[in-house]
Amino acid sequence: MDYLKTGGIAVIDFGSQYTQLIARRIRELGVYAEVYSHDGAAAHIDEHRPAGIVLSGGPNSVYEAEAPQLPAFLLESERPVLGICYGMQLLTAALGGKVAAASQREYGPAAISHQPRSPLFDGLEAELQVWMSHGDRIESLPPGFSALAQSENSPLAAIGDLEGNRYGLQFHPEVQHSSCGQTIFRNFLFKICSCQPKWSAAAVIENAVEAIRAQVGSERALLALSGGVDSAVAGALIHRAIGERLVCIFVDHGMLRQNEAENVVQVFRHQQGMNLIAVNAVENFLTALAGITEPEAKRKTIGRRFVETFSEEARKLRGIRFLAQGTIYPDVIESAAASASAKTIKSHHNVGGLPNDMQFQLVEPLRDLFKDEVRKIGAALGLPESIIWRQPFPGPGLAIRCLGEITWERLEKLRAADAIFTSELATAGLLRHGTAQSFAVLLPVKSVGVMGDKRSYEETLVLRSVTTDDFMTADWARLPYDLLARVSARIINEVPGINRVAYDITSKPPGTIEWE
Ligand code: XMP
Repeated sequence: MDYLKTGGIAVIDFGSQYTQLIARRIRELGVYAEVYSHDGAAAHIDEHRPAGIVLSGGPNSVYEAEAPQLPAFLLESERPVLGICYGMQLLTAALGGKVAAASQREYGPAAISHQPRSPLFDGLEAELQVWMSHGDRIESLPPGFSALAQSENSPLAAIGDLEGNRYGLQFHPEVQHSSCGQTIFRNFLFKICSCQPKWSAAAVIENAVEAIRAQVGSERALLALSGGVDSAVAGALIHRAIGERLVCIFVDHGMLRQNEAENVVQVFRHQQGMNLIAVNAVENFLTALAGITEPEAKRKTIGRRFVETFSEEARKLRGIRFLAQGTIYPDVIESAAASASAKTIKSHHNVGGLPNDMQFQLVEPLRDLFKDEVRKIGAALGLPESIIWRQPFPGPGLAIRCLGEITWERLEKLRAADAIFTSELATAGLLRHGTAQSFAVLLPVKSVGVMGDKRSYEETLVLRSVTTDDFMTADWARLPYDLLARVSARIINEVPGINRVAYDITSKPPGTIEWE
């Protein structure tokens, strides 16, 4: 990827919740952007030779003792710099200006007006709507800088040293509410940094195919295919590079959704022509899970069984040295950020825990890509929309949505109810947009009802539907009452063994998205 990555943008992170969004926005404009932590950035700059640098916002105040500092190399570099919020304040303080607490915090939409002199605002109306979120403000500018825009509360809403190619914005161009944000980034990339728009799905595919061929040579690679977006796109990409020499293993553990196993075989083996081994391990997993009700014990049992099943199949294949994984860029950023101090709230599993005698070299062609880029590449590779736009589904599958004991009969009940909910959401256009994750949860709680003059005493089903961008926090989706009524009526009428349907109205935090 080196050719595609050089001449891009380095985004230096000072702890803003929007840092990843900055990099995504830049990549949407066809320029590679990579996120570096403020204290580790210096080591990476020579490698990708970025054409410009963006400094993110952050929660600190520059005058606090412990506040993250501007990396020293930046002041010596000739590269154009755009500081956003905290990034602008850091730049100001480091270059001899003054930053202090504002008398009023500014949070939310604001109107700014700008001077026509700056290339940063080229092509934009004189009055713009932007999104502010700050408690500090600039009191005096560093030498060489002038005001480029102002709002009612921020006389220095944008500043710049036009000769030195250093700019600062008090507002957040990366968030959707700043409708002028993409034009500002476009101006910074192409007018100020002279970037080339090299970063496209076709170029990324071509580059990845070459890199995979160079890495794997004439050998074979193994991939655990789950049917989720990431492993599907990784599979399609590697298949394009090495064809039949990619061997995919798909484990049906019995805790998949309705028709999911059949669908995976249909799409990957028949439509994509991939070399797919489908393992039916349903009995094996159900036996291992019998009698287990404790959530972490369920996860551990499934994780262990998965590794055993996968390794057993892999051993039969003999002599494969490469293991492909659908690791994506946010996984890389998050695992670097989630230092050892992070507490395990739930143990997530992947194929990382393979036995010691199975030493693989990893092939991770999506390591540099955001989810929306992964989807674009999947589409360019010809994967169907049903795979590309799938909502996330946890590794342990329905096991952690079937509370209490897991039996085939209860799983079937849950599958049928989940399919009704999903199909009604799809009809209402709320599956791809409008909700980020929607599913059914079966509770081991019986309640009394009345059906056709008869008393019923059956289990309870909960519908869960959330909106979120990052799955770290989430809100419950405000689904239309009519839709909930239709789903509830259909489930109770069509799925024997469920006589009550509830809707979960807990946000995350304090809840989690899944129930176990
Ligand atoms: P929670 O429940 O922690 O879920 O709010 C956040 C996101 O992670 C998914 N999730 C998992 N994914 N293995 C996975 O691959 C797991 O064990 C697992 N547990 C939760 C969950 O579906 C949601 O998208």
